[in-house]
Amino acid sequence: MSLVEDLERYRLLLDEALCQATAHYATGVESLKDAMAYAVEGGKRLRGATVLAVAEDLGCGVQEALGPALAVEMVHAYSLVHDDLPCMDDDEFRRGKPSCHKRYGEAVALLAGDALLTEAFEVMATYGALPLDRRTLCVRTLAHAAGPGGMVAGQVIDLALEGRKLGPDAVTLMYSLKTGALFGAAAKLGALAANAREDVQKAAESWGKSFGLAFQIVDDIDDLKQGGKELVKDTLVKESSLDHAIALARSTLDESLAALGPFGGKGRFLRELSLNYLDKIK
Ligand code: IPE
Ligand code: IPE
Ligand code: MG
Ligand code: MG
Ligand code: MG
Repeated sequence: MSLVEDLERYRLLLDEALCQATAHYATGVESLKDAMAYAVEGGKRLRGATVLAVAEDLGCGVQEALGPALAVEMVHAYSLVHDDLPCMDDDEFRRGKPSCHKRYGEAVALLAGDALLTEAFEVMATYGALPLDRRTLCVRTLAHAAGPGGMVAGQVIDLALEGRKLGPDAVTLMYSLKTGALFGAAAKLGALAANAREDVQKAAESWGKSFGLAFQIVDDIDDLKQGGKELVKDTLVKESSLDHAIALARSTLDESLAALGPFGGKGRFLRELSLNYLDKIK
């Protein structure tokens, strides 16, 4: 199967499971339930697909890895709802629709984000049939990547440094925290679900950290090209130059490929995803 076919298969699976999870777990408060469903709608599901693909590549069934995959997508969706709020990026559109706070108001959007974040961990603790010890490791991995040791710290650096002169190293650190950490966790969760050897878990995480950094650079290049986002102040593209940003994305994608050694002949999806992004910035 090709990368595109794999992505489509995982996306359909995740779309349906996310729909059920938000409908099933949410309380009877309709506005909250609607806002949560709205927030998870329409993503590419790249992080969830990463969990499922790594698990499958390493011999674990997708159903077994679905809990962690759903949780990663819920954390990601919450991060986007909060990222769009007026106190953060103040963006009116997300995934081709009005952003969550534009549709439901700031307070409900904020709380829908909180609800998705907390529910992600309930899903990971309860969904599917993973043994308890692996579940605990999954919880620790995602919590670390999403919290003050990862994404939240990256978002704080992003906002705190807005408008100030940032060197490329600081921008790289910010990107690694705000986006690399969650991709690292996604790939590691797939390896954990498959009960992979520790060196393979580490390799998966290392692939994700590198890929996520490159992913954020490419996102910034796209945002700049489209001209629709007011984020030019802090981006690597702006701080250095487009050529430098592309060169960094390229070398980071090369690092992601090099990290896959311990996978041996496996890890096809990760390899193809990196190659696909290398192709994008050729
Ligand atoms: C957007 O991520 C946020 C960034 C980290 C750049 P995606 O481009 O993966 O967003 P969706 O989930 O497909 O909408
Ligand atoms: C978002 O980065 C990263 C998160 C952790 C949410 P951006 O602010 O660049 O994402 P977009 O461009 O709004 O999707
Ligand atoms: Mg942002
Ligand atoms: Mg943003
Ligand atoms: Mg962006």
